[in-house]
Amino acid sequence: MSAAVTKAVFPVAGLGTRFLPATKAQPKEMLPVVDKPLIQYAVEEAYAAGVREMIFVTGRHKRPIEDHFDMTFELEVALEQAQKQELLDVVRSVKPDDMECIYVRQAQALGLGHAVLCAQRLIGDDPFAVLLADDLMVGETPVLQQMVEQFDEWRASILAVQEVPAEHTRRYGIVAGTEVNERLLDIQRIVEKPAPEAAPSRLGVAGRYILTPGVLREIASQPRGVGGEIQLTDGIAGLLRREKVFAYRYEGRRYDCGSKEGFLEANVELALAHPALGPGFKQFLKTLAL
Ligand code: UTP
Repeated sequence: MSAAVTKAVFPVAGLGTRFLPATKAQPKEMLPVVDKPLIQYAVEEAYAAGVREMIFVTGRHKRPIEDHFDMTFELEVALEQAQKQELLDVVRSVKPDDMECIYVRQAQALGLGHAVLCAQRLIGDDPFAVLLADDLMVGETPVLQQMVEQFDEWRASILAVQEVPAEHTRRYGIVAGTEVNERLLDIQRIVEKPAPEAAPSRLGVAGRYILTPGVLREIASQPRGVGGEIQLTDGIAGLLRREKVFAYRYEGRRYDCGSKEGFLEANVELALAHPALGPGFKQFLKTLAL
């Protein structure tokens, strides 16, 4: 296993049913928050954490994601001719030269665990990150960067977690274990989407993981789990029997952009924080008699 986390998997093959009709013919990961698609926020977060190999697990209707990270020749020529250097920089910064994008297909959306398994050959024997782009993370230090720092220290899988309301445990993988320090928990149990009365704690897994390659064997040997899907959580539960896995209470804010409410909140808050748009948008909001 290599020492550094240089690979990230972006499972983007889900159906996005909670965001219909917007996701009927376009991927939810391309929905823009202010002026950037969700997937770009996740890729930028991974890049900031030192990842250079971006592995997208795609499905039907996901071509726009490939196009987004491709070179847009005509657009660049047009911007160059119009001497719009600032916009040209914006377009070119989407894929820095030292970043590699690789695409694998998940023919059928059989679950998050299955999606990760589709990248097995590309992951090989290396530790890797998994980022769910519909969880938009905003932190002073990018959340994946915080997790890479933990991985460097503990050399073990790290899951991002946060306290969730008791009535929301059915939306998350829930972990329980022993406290290592105020941010870190040595996980003893992980359960996918438990009912509140069955949840071992209120610590829910957010869409950021650093995993050791052993998890792939575990996913492959799990039967189908909650919802008939091949669950990443069940693979991690298998890994727990062989290796240490830690839960890390990240510093920052998470927006669940897979839901309409979370997506709207992200747009309002990030628009208010935007250096160019923020002041005008704030004035506009004040004119709404809420
Ligand atoms: P979600 O649970 O949000 O599922 O998946 P979904 O299908 O995208 O959305 P809803 O619930 O129907 O609205 C979490 C992440 O895992 C990916 C999704 O693209 C999303 O980023 N995923 C899920 C896959 O890539 N493949 C799958 O089979 C399932």
